[in-house]
Amino acid sequence: MGGKDAAGSDTYTSANPARLDEAVARVGLADAGTFAAACRTAKDAQREWAKVPAPVRGRVIASIGRLVEANAESLAALVTEEIGKPYAEALGEVREIVDTCDFFLGEGRRLYGQTVPSEMPDKNLFTFRNPVGVATVITAGNFPVAVPSWYLVPALLCGNAVVWKPAEYAAASAHAMYRLFAAAGLPDGVLNVVFADGAQTFEGLERALTERTVDKIGFTGSSEVGRKIGELAGRHLQSPCLELGGKNPMVIMPDADLDLAVEGALFAGFGTAGQRCTSLGTAIVHESVHQDFTDRFVRALKAARVGDPREDVLAGPLLDRKFADRYEEYLTWIQPHHRVVSGPTGRITEDNPRDGFTGEGGLYYHPVVVDGVRPDDRIFLEETFGPIVGVTTFSTMAEAVELANRPGYGLSSSIYTTNPKHAFAFREGVSAGMVSINNSTSGAEAHLPFGGNGKSGNGSRQSGMWVLDQFTRWQSMNWDHSGRLQKAQMDVAEITPDHGFRL
Ligand code: UN1
Repeated sequence: MGGKDAAGSDTYTSANPARLDEAVARVGLADAGTFAAACRTAKDAQREWAKVPAPVRGRVIASIGRLVEANAESLAALVTEEIGKPYAEALGEVREIVDTCDFFLGEGRRLYGQTVPSEMPDKNLFTFRNPVGVATVITAGNFPVAVPSWYLVPALLCGNAVVWKPAEYAAASAHAMYRLFAAAGLPDGVLNVVFADGAQTFEGLERALTERTVDKIGFTGSSEVGRKIGELAGRHLQSPCLELGGKNPMVIMPDADLDLAVEGALFAGFGTAGQRCTSLGTAIVHESVHQDFTDRFVRALKAARVGDPREDVLAGPLLDRKFADRYEEYLTWIQPHHRVVSGPTGRITEDNPRDGFTGEGGLYYHPVVVDGVRPDDRIFLEETFGPIVGVTTFSTMAEAVELANRPGYGLSSSIYTTNPKHAFAFREGVSAGMVSINNSTSGAEAHLPFGGNGKSGNGSRQSGMWVLDQFTRWQSMNWDHSGRLQKAQMDVAEITPDHGFRL
């Protein structure tokens, strides 16, 4: 795609996870050679795109935003159909693309460089932001359109060409997004979409890096794959933008507004069926409010609806079979010392219904709260993508911070407290790139830096002005118009102070 349709060597069917017998899209999967060819196409197209003045590129971004806005309902409905995200959330996801476009359309007129004073007369110093070249973007399907837009929009605005490898199980959403971008008038070859499996993508990327047709890699997905991409990029002296998993903690202090905390934990843990990288991992609850919080949390969960994502539900099905299989494995991490306080676990079926809901042949799972989680448990230490939340206790603030950091991720975090001292102590101590005070771990706004530390990423940040450092490289220029060679550090005027002076 991106000018021409490349023949696929294999096909993949993206199914509706709410009704598995419904196919949403069938796509051909490309091989490594096709992937590398797309990078060459992008490399050629990028030279001309970079010459388009940034304010004009900003106008294209404005058009993308308007087109997405005008097609918001149909794009959201497609996201719901393809990955089972509740419609209200899908609309929010689409909104996030518009927000991102709104931010970056102005950046076209503001892609500032600086004028910097020189240490010598008749000499001027400048900085420029140059596009990096070709960005290869590999994204997950839990946010099949919003998260890609965090890469695509700033990358294109900055004058880069893009090769985008979306999740195959979100192929229809990706294709719709591509068509919206193309309708805004992007020249052929500037944005290219390639569907391919992980192995072929990796091999294609390796080839493209060797051919020097890729200058930046953006990857959103698991820590495990992120590590491999980081290694590959490192061998080619590149620093990728990695947005990886999370084991996001929520600390509940004894002074917290418990009802508010429960509402936050419910959405953080089970919104998007717990499949955000920012979803709640473990609620770390002060021992004095542990029982009260857990009781209220379970009560709220039992009252919440799981079901058809086109309706007003807290959670729909899991994204895709592969995620359901992995989630079933996480359930095996529940140990005899744990207490499952939420009721039944596993797939919702006729034999294992939830409030009369029998799952309708979809990938629906019972949301699970596991109490009695200990700091060395696998369920405490590792990401469990899906509708499962652990609960553990602490007694001192220092202990809460230590528990919050213990899994070694560092994406999002949250604390519920009415004491500002606790809020600031937590902010200072927690290793996460994002901290919420009295708010869910998920739901970051589109113009704040988004990204993690530790196992959640390599410190790169997306969104807002911070992502510009991913998609541009600073170039410095000095211009000496004195007509003679002025040597830096050597031909510099000196003004002699009287260091011995005292009043
Ligand atoms: C993700 O799951 O990869 O902050 C991103 C949030 C959303 C983005 C999540 N705005 O929860």
